[in-house]
Amino acid sequence: MIENTDTQKEKNVVVHEEGSSKFYLPVPDSNCVPSKSMSVFYNKRMEINRDITNLAINAYSELYKKNELIIVDSMAATGISSIRMLKECKNVKKIYINDINPAAVELIKKNLELNNLKNAGTFIEISKKDASLLFSELSQLTHNEKPNVISIDPFGTPNLYVDPAFKALINKEGLMCITATDTPVLFGVKIKACLRKYMAKPLNNEFHKETGARILMYFIQRIANINKVGIIPLLTMYSNHFVRIFGLTFKNKNDISESIKNFGYFIYCKHCGYRNWYQNIILNIPECCPLCEKREKLEFTGPLWLGELHKRDYLESLIELNDQSSYKNRNRLNTILSIALEEINMPKSYYNLHYLSKELKLKNVPKIDVVIAKLRNKGYTASRTHFDFKSIKTDMKMNELKQMLVSLN
Ligand SMILES: C[S@@+](CC[C@H](N)C(=O)[O-])C[C@H]1O[C@@H](n2cnc3c(N)ncnc32)[C@H](O)[C@@H]1O
Repeated sequence: MIENTDTQKEKNVVVHEEGSSKFYLPVPDSNCVPSKSMSVFYNKRMEINRDITNLAINAYSELYKKNELIIVDSMAATGISSIRMLKECKNVKKIYINDINPAAVELIKKNLELNNLKNAGTFIEISKKDASLLFSELSQLTHNEKPNVISIDPFGTPNLYVDPAFKALINKEGLMCITATDTPVLFGVKIKACLRKYMAKPLNNEFHKETGARILMYFIQRIANINKVGIIPLLTMYSNHFVRIFGLTFKNKNDISESIKNFGYFIYCKHCGYRNWYQNIILNIPECCPLCEKREKLEFTGPLWLGELHKRDYLESLIELNDQSSYKNRNRLNTILSIALEEINMPKSYYNLHYLSKELKLKNVPKIDVVIAKLRNKGYTASRTHFDFKSIKTDMKMNELKQMLVSLN
């Protein structure tokens, strides 16, 4: 936070700084815990979300040769996300900055002025609309006028906005960026809410962060499909109680039909932790666990996305761009992105070493690097997961893994 000057006192605002930019925040909002009741919403902890978004836009522009970006920041709040896009992203031709809250829109105007962006050459369109209405208006534009980047960053679930957003975004190589912060819903604490909001059953177990992200991905894919669009997941990131999905649109019907094969379910035995996945819309739940043979129907979660969550060349580009950045979150982002790279081609759930050690009554939790090295030595695949820094992914069968952990103690 920058010190208060007399002008700021007059305006009853405080100047904050983030990334390359400054912005005003009303005094009452400045020191309170971020919540919906702020006159204009701002959450410092979501700086990492804005950092990764700008890296994602730059990586998209570079990899897919997009020299003229038309971006929609559909829920801009203070405008800090848009201002940072204008300052940190290359090739921005036009940006729509929108928020439904009138106080936010007034603040956005002031914040653009504070950053000398009002007459900076990029076409800026500010609006105070329901995001769905804005998307619906944009969907009427010609292909060349339509946005190629859309960002949705709501309070809680993005579910209401996904359909109109796909109608607005270009259907070939458009970048969709969607945040969900309703993690108790996606991670299985609120089962009925998840069924209502995402049409999928969640499961609150030791790998719920990954299943939650896969439910969100399934939902986004499904809504894209009914708009005659497919989505290639570029990055699916969990951090600080949010999931942010970056997906690339494609429109080939046969490819869309192929990608539907990635919809399916996980089954899970709550007694022994056995898990498996079915890459099929139809689910036959075994009457008894194939591993511990407990005669009790297994639990399930889904439908969810069983395909890859990230794209390799895109992650590599993100890592390179992050290395060149001076973001405060650079190290954390580097950890997340490098581990996400390891997740590609790995099994679709993970084992928490603390959880397993407790179950096996081990004296010490084995070191994660030691476990991974041992698994790889034995010829199994093994990696960390960015969803949970205390967990590993491996194709070793769970019973064998448990024996190996015991032998390491
Ligand atoms: C989580 S905040 C966005 C934070 C912002 N993107 C940032 O990085 O600081 C959600 C914003 O969405 C706005 N909002 C809520 N419902 C909306 C709607 N239906 N259409 C447009 N904006 C909406 C709220 O006023 C709030 O400013």
